[in-house]
Amino acid sequence: MAKIAVLGYGVVGSGTVEVIEKNKKSLTEKAGQEIEVKYILDLRDFPDSPYKDKFIKDFNIILNDPEISVVVEVIGGIKPSYDFVKSSLLAGKSVVTSNKELVAQKGAELLKIAHEKKVNFFFEASVGGGIPIIRPLHQCLSANRIDEIAGILNGTTNFILTKMIRDNMPFDEALRTAQELGYAERDPSADVNGIDACRKICILASLAFGKHVYPDKIHTEGISAITPEDVEYCESFGGSIKLIGWASREDGGKVAVMVCPAFISEDSQLAGVNDVFNAILVRGDSTGDVVFYGKGAGKLPTASAVVADVVIAVKMSSSSISLYWEDSDQSFIEDEKNITLQSYIRTVNVDKNTVEKLFGEVEYLSRKGAPDNELAFITAALSENEYDKKLSSLGNNVLGRIRVLNY
Ligand code: HSE
Repeated sequence: MAKIAVLGYGVVGSGTVEVIEKNKKSLTEKAGQEIEVKYILDLRDFPDSPYKDKFIKDFNIILNDPEISVVVEVIGGIKPSYDFVKSSLLAGKSVVTSNKELVAQKGAELLKIAHEKKVNFFFEASVGGGIPIIRPLHQCLSANRIDEIAGILNGTTNFILTKMIRDNMPFDEALRTAQELGYAERDPSADVNGIDACRKICILASLAFGKHVYPDKIHTEGISAITPEDVEYCESFGGSIKLIGWASREDGGKVAVMVCPAFISEDSQLAGVNDVFNAILVRGDSTGDVVFYGKGAGKLPTASAVVADVVIAVKMSSSSISLYWEDSDQSFIEDEKNITLQSYIRTVNVDKNTVEKLFGEVEYLSRKGAPDNELAFITAALSENEYDKKLSSLGNNVLGRIRVLNY
């Protein structure tokens, strides 16, 4: 029998215990032995829980118990998760986590320790909730040179955008519903501001390109500046606005990484991804585009990914797999000012002559009821540096800018 400990009994922790108990028989067959949750670590009391005898408050009991072979960290955040995970790995226990903040910030270090100790550090649930993406990217697509990854990586913002666009639901109500459904982070500004999506694209880019990509080096924008007018113009463009985390291998060998709301053509496989669903497009040099789609947040979808990692960790109890990336000084990351993309721009009190003098040939968009002094258009591809100069010359006459991505 494999004995495991679950750190944290929140949405994902309780889902993990529920899935392990619910599917005990099939999990035993798949893991080759029964998996028993011996401890649940949480500072809160759960006197009515059917698992009340398993709750403890002292992590050292887990660390010093040689029977515990796998530790599941689903607390989230860096403190105290980082110390718990690091000391578990150093003690020769495999760790499974859903904690994207931890993997995005400390992944290279923790993977190195896992390798040295010949145990496993698994984090399938950290990206895409229930969607298998880490293992497919690492194993099934290993024959490819990965050239691009682009994903709708945050269920909360995709849910909010869908409710706002389809149902005219106000932002606050959509966010509250996402929180009630257990999709949002403890601090939902991490969802809304793109920080959660940034952590996830950093994890995927680190895995795909073999070097750690740190979130604080990545240009990140959220969804709070998107207006109903932008949504209407996007309809006339023929697409949808989505929050996209993307990473792209460039000709010189550098990698461009960004998180931003973007106009996506309705022909894109990402355009029809709505509600809490996530989708991740991976472009390999042999496969072409492969798209992974499913529920990106929520109790049981995320628990599904955690428990699958537990099964593999139990099966591989005396060996570690090659899941690995190096630490990096970030010199392989393209300077955001050199990133070159098309954009949608909305202006007021700017005439077409001025627009065309600044941006050359543009595609004008329309919306019902637009005032005569408003112009919205799609530019040719320009670098961020060039946008900075051109847009600053228009000052407050610029009402909005959203990048256009061709995935
Ligand atoms: N807050 C995250 C989301 C949870 O909405 O996608 C899953 O990582």
